[in-house]
Amino acid sequence: MNAALADFRSDTVTRPTEAMLRAMAAAPVGDDVLGDDPTVLRLEAILAERFGMESGLFCPSGTMTNQISVKVHTQPGDEVICSKLAHVYNYEGGGLAFNSGVQVRVGGDDYGRLSAAQAELLLQPMDNVHAAPTRLVVAENTSNKGGGTTIGLDALRELGGFARLHHLGYHLDGARLFNALVADGELASDYGQVFDSISICLSKGLGAPVGSVLLGSRDFINQARRIRKRLGGGMRQAGYLAAAGIYALEHHVERLAEDHLRAADLAKHVSNLPYVEALKPADTNMVLFRLRAGLDPRDLLAHLDAQGIRLMAMDPFWLRAVLHYDVGDQEVSRLKEALSNWKT
Ligand SMILES: Cc1ncc(COP(=O)(O)O)c(C=O)c1O
Repeated sequence: MNAALADFRSDTVTRPTEAMLRAMAAAPVGDDVLGDDPTVLRLEAILAERFGMESGLFCPSGTMTNQISVKVHTQPGDEVICSKLAHVYNYEGGGLAFNSGVQVRVGGDDYGRLSAAQAELLLQPMDNVHAAPTRLVVAENTSNKGGGTTIGLDALRELGGFARLHHLGYHLDGARLFNALVADGELASDYGQVFDSISICLSKGLGAPVGSVLLGSRDFINQARRIRKRLGGGMRQAGYLAAAGIYALEHHVERLAEDHLRAADLAKHVSNLPYVEALKPADTNMVLFRLRAGLDPRDLLAHLDAQGIRLMAMDPFWLRAVLHYDVGDQEVSRLKEALSNWKT
């Protein structure tokens, strides 16, 4: 990576470390589409065991694990309930309609939280032929568009109770679930008891170059495997990639706490900037903030870019800085100084 560039756009920009690359190169591999890549099987087993679920399926991306899961849970014409900020709804290219032919009913707050009471309001009457049958609830922890917010196991359990009561599937987009586990001191195994399916990303804060794992029951994953094939997501010597995921699980989980500390420090700085109007709670590794009305976020991005610092615009209003292992104290200091120096 260009040493002068401080890239806060996303935790997906991390490059594999030397040690991770060595682990990848040394991985025993087979043909995962034929079901005999030992390193892929090991990664799937490690995560399934950790979350107390029966099976796992290694996929190229978090979008694919989410999309496959929705496809298994639903039939065309069904309805999915999720937060208005959910990644599956906002950032997967209309995939729910394209891949599953479902429609979505959204609600909840501005931090990615959707309570059981709020979900109840979105439930369609099952005995009314005019309504699309509600089939699935999707939660997201942490919430990306919510600001890296942790949702908390108690709230997720309550939403799961609602889903069970109405015989709905319950999927977790856990792209950054390890950030939530570290921040809230929660147990992975508790999550396996709450959800029917969980998607975990290895290529975000955990720092692997590629890959997500979908977890669920044996039957669910057998169906998911068929859909992965249909979508073209079956990879052959994928063990080289899975090895990076195993390395990340062994070496990069605890260090997420460092990203969280840096995000809290950055958020404190941002909260004192005169041109910042709103800031989301920096529960984990993200800082999302909005500029005062009349200011153009593109001007701030250009000011930062000129100094080799990159942030991302989430939409025309909200800017995002994400902490990860390629940005340390030095990069955070540079960002804070550059933010302070912006003349509006
Ligand atoms: C919450 C959430 N879910 C899913 C995804 C999709 O992951 P991928 O980029 O691997 O498709 C992302 C990506 O940023 C995300 O933030």
